[in-house]
Amino acid sequence: MKKPIKVTITGAAGNIGYALAFRVAAGDVFGPDQPVILRLMELPMTMGPLGGVGMEMEDCAFPLVHDVVLTDDPKIGFRDTNYVLLVGAKPRTKGMERKDLITENARIFSTQGRAINEHAARDVRVMVVGNPANTNAMIAAANAPDLPKERFTAMARLDHNRAIGMLAKKTNRLAADVRRMIVWGNHSPTMHPDLTHCTVGGTPALDLVSLDWAIDHMIPTVQRRGAAVIEARGASSAASAAGSVVDHVRDWFLGTPEDDWVSMSVHSDGSYGITEGLVYSFPVTCKNGDYHIVQGLEVTDFGKTRMKVTEKELLEEREVVADLL
Ligand code: NAD
Ligand code: LMR
Repeated sequence: MKKPIKVTITGAAGNIGYALAFRVAAGDVFGPDQPVILRLMELPMTMGPLGGVGMEMEDCAFPLVHDVVLTDDPKIGFRDTNYVLLVGAKPRTKGMERKDLITENARIFSTQGRAINEHAARDVRVMVVGNPANTNAMIAAANAPDLPKERFTAMARLDHNRAIGMLAKKTNRLAADVRRMIVWGNHSPTMHPDLTHCTVGGTPALDLVSLDWAIDHMIPTVQRRGAAVIEARGASSAASAAGSVVDHVRDWFLGTPEDDWVSMSVHSDGSYGITEGLVYSFPVTCKNGDYHIVQGLEVTDFGKTRMKVTEKELLEEREVVADLL
C-alpha cells in the first residue's frame, strides 16, 4: 500500500468544493491505488455545512480515504500537506468580470500563501481556482518566499476543455480525438484559444474548420463561456470547474500523454516573450510531478497580438494588487 498523500481543499462546502472533494476521494485525481488524507477547509461561519460534507464523505466509505479533517484553521488545514487546491473565494455574479473580484478575493490568497509557506510539506504543489485565478496564484506565490514559485499554478484547464468540447462538436468527433489545444494567457475574456497546432483525429483542426469560424465564433464563445453559464444557471460553473481541477492536478501528478500537452497557468519564465513572474497560461507537458512549458511553437501574428493583449491585462491586475506582492 502506498503512503497516503495529504490533499487540502479550501471552500470545500461551496459549489465547486462539493463536486471536487468526492472525486479526489474516489481516486479520480491521484489514481486508483493512491490513498489520500483529505483536509477540507471552510470559513468559521460555514463549518456547519462542511460538517454535512464530512458526514457524506464517511457515508461513501471510500477505500482510498485514510482520514478526513474538517477545519477552519489554516495551521491544521495546511499542516504537512502535499497538494493544496485553493477553491474558496467569492464567485462573480451576472454583469461582473472576474477581475472585479480582485478587491474582495486577493487578500485571501496573501493570507493563504503565508500559511502554506509556514505549514505545508516542502514538496507542496498548489493550484488556484478562486478568481481572478491567475493573479491570485501570483499573490499566493509571492507570499510563500520559502517555496519555489513554479509550484503555484492556476486553472486554465476549464477554458482548454471548453475549446476542445466546442471543436469536437463542430467537427462531429469525440473530445478524445482532439490534441494539442492551447489557451494562452489570463482566465478572462482576453484569453487566447489557439487552434494553430491543434489536430482532430490526426488532421490539422484548421483543415476541418475555417479560420473565420475560429475567430468569429469559437474564440469569443470560449472567452465568454463562464458568463454564459452564469446567465443560464444563475450561478457560476461548478461541475465542469471541478472536472477541470481533476484534470489539471491528475496530469500534473501522473503526467500528460506522450503525444499531447495541456494548458496550465504557470509562473512565466519569459517563454514566448511573456513578462517573467506573471502567472500565464501556456501549453505544458507534465512528467514525474513537474511541468515544462512547451518551447519553440510557431505563433501567428494574430496570436502574438492576442497574447500581448492578455499579458497586458495581467500586468494591470498586478498593479492593482502591488501591495500584496
Ligand atoms: P461558492 O460561493 O459556492 O463556494 C465558495 C466557498 O468558499 C464558500 O463555501 C465559502 O465559505 C468558502 N470560502 C471563502 N473564503 C474562504 C477561505 N478564506 N477559506 C476557506 N473557504 C473559503 O463558490 P464556487 O462556485 O465554489 O466558486 C469558488 C471560486 O472559484 C470563485 O472565485 C469562482 O469565481 C471560481 N471559479 C474559478 C474557475 C476557474 O476556471 N478558474 C471556474 C469556476 C469558478
Ligand atoms: C468560469 O469560467 O466558469 C469561472 O471562472 C466562473 C466565472 O466567473 O466565469
